[in-house]
Order: sequence, then structure tokens, then C-alpha cells
Amino acid sequence: MKLNSSDIQAMPSRRRAALINSLSGFKSANLVGTQDTAGATNLAIMSSAVHLGSHPPLLALVIRPGGEERHTLANILATRCYTLNHVSGPLIEAAHQTAARYPQHVSEFEATGLTAEWQEGLDAPMVAEAVVKLGMELREHQQLKINGTHLVIGEIVLAEFPALAMTPDGALGLAQCGTVALTGLDTYHEAIPCKRMAYAKPDLPPRQIAGTHTAASNEEYSR
Ligand SMILES: Cc1cc2nc3c(=O)[nH]c(=O)nc-3n(C[C@H](O)[C@H](O)[C@H](O)COP(=O)(O)O)c2cc1C
Repeated sequence: MKLNSSDIQAMPSRRRAALINSLSGFKSANLVGTQDTAGATNLAIMSSAVHLGSHPPLLALVIRPGGEERHTLANILATRCYTLNHVSGPLIEAAHQTAARYPQHVSEFEATGLTAEWQEGLDAPMVAEAVVKLGMELREHQQLKINGTHLVIGEIVLAEFPALAMTPDGALGLAQCGTVALTGLDTYHEAIPCKRMAYAKPDLPPRQIAGTHTAASNEEYSR
């Protein structure tokens, strides 16, 4: 199938959203934890986390426009603090349910049965059940001219994950942590690493790093 701009524009809006949401490839699945200035907690699933740089360690989120009805955005702007909690297999149902439009006074923690966990010096709740949890401080916020979406840039000020899942070179083995991937707005995927490649150099052919974690070695980790 080949679609041009007019074909895409002519699509019914829900079909277009479903298609375009899948075209950027596999995405991350994070639960964004926040609280308002009165201490009411909020949790929302987001698939738009993107790496912006390592030094300082920055991640961006793309948040849809919608003013005060966007509780996550309002809370981040008010407290300048939030958490990102990787969705893993056992959390999928609860995580997905946080996308429901609960009224402001209803906490998605209570609505979904997930547990808020607090860290010293961090003004936002983590998800106790998550395996990988990040504490974030807001560094920059821009509303994009092109479509009114909000780009929220935060610095990782706290990272919590199982030490065993760290690879010898320092990367985090996300499959070992059970972190899932997302396509579109509704399909969750288990990750199975297939190859790990060495740093690419013009004068060397592509080289695979020995000891790539496979599905079998994932099981070893979870034992
Ligand atoms: C799989 C999935 C991914 C989502 N990703 C985003 C996202 O990246 N940005 C966003 O603004 N909304 C995203 N949403 C929608 C929010 O989760 C939803 O609007 C939620 O109600 C926002 O909660 P809040 O009003 O408490 O902030 C996503 C929904 C689903 C189901």
C-alpha cells in the first residue's frame, strides 16, 4: 500500500490517528507520576519519551494540547517534578487504564490499584510496582507552533533499577527488566534482543558483541 498526503488527509480521523501513531516504529511505555500543589497524585501512560542527551541526562515528553484538562502537564508545570516508570508485563492492564479520563479529584493510583512510592527530595510519586523508575526535574517547556503540542524536557535526577540488569559497559538491559515496547496506542510487545553491535567505524565491518542477551539469558536473570 502507498499513501500520499491527500490519501492521509482523506482518512477518517480515528483510522488516521491509528495509522500515524504506528508509523514512528516501536515506542517506549512509561507511567508518568505527578502530584498537584495540594498533594493529589496523578498517573498517566505516555509513549512519547525520547532521549535528548546524556550529559546532562535529558529526556523529552510530547504532551497533547488540552489546557487544564491535561493533569500531567499542569502538575509538571506547577511542581517542576515528575517520575517516569517503565511499564513491564505485569503492569500492562493497570498502566493502560491510566489513559482513561478520570476527573481531577480521582487519582489513577487508586483507580488502578498501583502504589505511590515517595523518595526523599522528589516532589512526585514513583510507581512502587515498576522495575525501572526515574525521578525527573523539569528543565524546559515549549508549546510547539506547528500543532500546539507541548515539549516537556526534564533531567533525570534519580534512577532506580536492578543492578543485575546493568550490562558490563553500563547500559541497562531493558528486556531483563521486563520493560515492554508499544506500537500505536494499544499494542504492547515483549522485547527479545536479537543482536548487540559494536561501535560502528568506517574502516571496520559491522561486528557483533559476544554475549548478547537472548531470550534464554533473560530467563536466567528472572530466576
Ligand atoms: C499507549 C498510550 C500512550 C499514550 N501516550 C501519550 C503521550 O505520549 N502523550 C500524551 O499527551 N498522551 C498520551 N496518551 C494519552 C494519555 O495517557 C491520556 O490522555 C491521559 O488521560 C492523560 O492523563 P492526564 O490528564 O492525567 O494527564 C497515551 C495513551 C495511551 C493509551
